[in-house]
Amino acid sequence: MPEDLQSLAAFQEETDIYRFCFYDRVGSTNDVALKLAREGCSHGTVVIADSQERGRGRHGRAWYSPPGVNIYMSIILNPGVITFHPALVTLSASLAVVDAVNSCLLSQSREGVPSVEVWPKWPNDIYCNHGKLGGILTEASTARERIRFMVAGMGINVNMPADRIPADFRDNTTSLYSETGEVFDRGRVIVKILESFSSFYTLLFDDPASVIALWCKISRTINSYVKAITPQGNIYGTALGLDNRGFLRFGKEGGEEIILSTAEIIHLRDHDG
Ligand code: BTN
Repeated sequence: MPEDLQSLAAFQEETDIYRFCFYDRVGSTNDVALKLAREGCSHGTVVIADSQERGRGRHGRAWYSPPGVNIYMSIILNPGVITFHPALVTLSASLAVVDAVNSCLLSQSREGVPSVEVWPKWPNDIYCNHGKLGGILTEASTARERIRFMVAGMGINVNMPADRIPADFRDNTTSLYSETGEVFDRGRVIVKILESFSSFYTLLFDDPASVIALWCKISRTINSYVKAITPQGNIYGTALGLDNRGFLRFGKEGGEEIILSTAEIIHLRDHDG
């Protein structure tokens, strides 16, 4: 296991919730986790890889996954009967990543290290300042309208210099290293994410509305003027909030409010700025 992932071994000894399956290289950690879940691996199994050959993002996009620098991890979940919409699992995972990254930034902060803002962008992105730091890909297997299992996949760009990303993947991608000039211990970031995720996942069962409220509070998407790229075309308006499924309440320019269950959101400017 790479040196900066070795702190996972100590965490494995003390956690009752998580069990790690570590791989040097996989196609996609989500695919491995889905296969393990089908074979009966239980809630809390975490698949981590140092690199992915076919990392997947939303809408079938490829996720750039070079070795030695980033986090690629997928958590198997057996939620049983749920009273909340499954999309809220993605919001809980986003909150956990933001919380964990903030806590790692805080413990590494000292003079000369720029302070940065980490925030979730609807529906599944993690942003750092103006660049995409990571993303969540949640997938579920259902049978007779019941969720058999879910996999929460997380990709976070940690020590990868964003200017070395191949042009095809570059878009507005960033990394913790590119934003701060600091190198982070991936194992510590993972441990923080998992600790935080178990709190937000528990909160989801107890009080899903508070997960939505927390997400809205820290997301720059809400109250911003945005372009939504939808299967029906592009629309412009204000992101007003989320409904109880985690879908976006969107105020069109003419004043009509619609609900978007999925879309690509481009932030054009802050609503009030
Ligand atoms: C997105 O923003 O489109 C979501 C990206 C999710 C990438 C992660 S990396 C770990 C896990 N395995 C995958 O193949 N995808 C997710």
